[in-house]
Amino acid sequence: MASDMTTGECAWQHDVLDVIDARSSTRKFAEVEVTDEQRQAVLHAASRAPSAGAMMMYSIIDIRQQETLDRLSVLCDNQPFIAKAPWALVFVVDYCKWIDLFEHVGCLSEEFAAEHGCEPRSTCGLGDLAIAAQDAIIAAQNAVIAAEAVGLGSCYIGDIVESAEEVAELLGLPAHTIPLSMVVLGVPHKERPATPHPVENLVMFERYRRADAATMDAQVAEMDAMFRPHATEAGARVTDIYTRKHTSAFMAEMNRSMECWLRNWRGEGLNADA
Ligand SMILES: Cc1cc2nc3c(=O)[nH]c(=O)nc-3n(C[C@H](O)[C@H](O)[C@H](O)COP(=O)(O)O)c2cc1C
Repeated sequence: MASDMTTGECAWQHDVLDVIDARSSTRKFAEVEVTDEQRQAVLHAASRAPSAGAMMMYSIIDIRQQETLDRLSVLCDNQPFIAKAPWALVFVVDYCKWIDLFEHVGCLSEEFAAEHGCEPRSTCGLGDLAIAAQDAIIAAQNAVIAAEAVGLGSCYIGDIVESAEEVAELLGLPAHTIPLSMVVLGVPHKERPATPHPVENLVMFERYRRADAATMDAQVAEMDAMFRPHATEAGARVTDIYTRKHTSAFMAEMNRSMECWLRNWRGEGLNADA
């Protein structure tokens, strides 16, 4: 960060803030090659993300083959634009690499346990997941912002956690991994305006504050205003989310699949009867 060491004043990095402000999701890509320089800049930015204990508890699967993109477009709730993206990055929450390293340097042996006074542990729990998942997602967002800065558009694909059995097979994912996030990238088909984001009831001071009726009315009104012309009556955006997302078949599949991934994380196999 540019700063004046004598006064402690920092210069604002307006370019960074402008890139964050201008970004919006891209779902249509131009038939223009992504250059090696763009790819390197995006992957480097991902690797520069903060990481708990600098443990880098994630892996990035770099996908360019059409066959794999085609398959992912089906497995991720049939979203055809995924197959038309030239590039996809799957951010895998990865503790497998640490379990392998513990084994590799002898941490899991009886002798090591006796010498260091710690129980051998080759499993992962929800605490490990909490920090590893943050690692993976922060890296993904660094990639998204860097992509925007080098002229690439991107879109997260949350549905990558669906179809656990098929995705595990397709990407060769072992125990102690979860493909928590996917980002598709490419040169945008055309310039995109930034998507409005609602901010009512977002920031709370000092303590959590559950919304009262007036706050919820303000939230509903803000969302409906952004949702026009689809919002024809008050609350249209909320009912749209309820019917199209909260109670949808894809959300049911996502919830089923995440149970599989949680078992996989713990090393119990994807399926309960595995
Ligand atoms: C976790 C996550 C999952 C998402 N999954 C999808 C998806 O599967 N398909 C899609 O078209 N967009 C997906 N998006 C993009 C959102 O719809 C988009 O970010 C949102 O509408 C706000 O628009 P903006 O990104 O243009 O600001 C996802 C975004 C996030 C953060």
